[in-house]
Amino acid sequence: MKNIAVFASGSGSNFQAIIDSVEAGDLQANITLLVCDKPDAMAIQRALKHGVPTFAFSPKTYQDKASFEAEILTRLKEVEVDFIALAGYMRLIGPTLLEAYEGKIVNIHPSLLPAFPGKDAIGQALKAGATETGVTVHYVDQGMDTGPIIEQVAVPIYESDTQNHVRKRIHDVEHELYPKVLQQILNPAEVRTN
Ligand code: GAR
Repeated sequence: MKNIAVFASGSGSNFQAIIDSVEAGDLQANITLLVCDKPDAMAIQRALKHGVPTFAFSPKTYQDKASFEAEILTRLKEVEVDFIALAGYMRLIGPTLLEAYEGKIVNIHPSLLPAFPGKDAIGQALKAGATETGVTVHYVDQGMDTGPIIEQVAVPIYESDTQNHVRKRIHDVEHELYPKVLQQILNPAEVRTN
């Protein structure tokens, strides 16, 4: 069974969906670390409640991204992490982690990429007057939400929607989609050859 680390910066509802899926036996993986760049984030409480070890850090206490990513890498190695799932981690991944985990980092983003990359994707969609947005799970490369797309699900936007309505609709899709895609990547069905 693969060891995964989840990276989060905020509420961690996607992290919770991954925990729930592992606990239900639907996602076969060990969550061996939560990495969090906001020491007061709710994601940390979720980790504590479910016995997931946590590395929480304040980026501003490090000289630069290379320094805190070097420390993250040490922590990942300590608990033998094979694969990284970004779940609302609001930072670009730098070369230190990308080189160590090439092709082994995925992200979930609240839009149909390449539309609305970066921060506040839901706000961007509403401002653009879009009638549809969605969710994308993709591999992470050096760009901002630019890596190869694994799966996308569309989510409608209705005229009467506030940001909260769209966020809730997107979260519902994310919580189902992300654990399912992780299971497919980490435990691909064996192909029969005879
Ligand atoms: C999620 O909607 C995720 O797609 C988004 O942040 C939210 C985190 O929610 N990620 C990005 O915008 C990344 N560019 P959560 O903390 O409740 O899982």
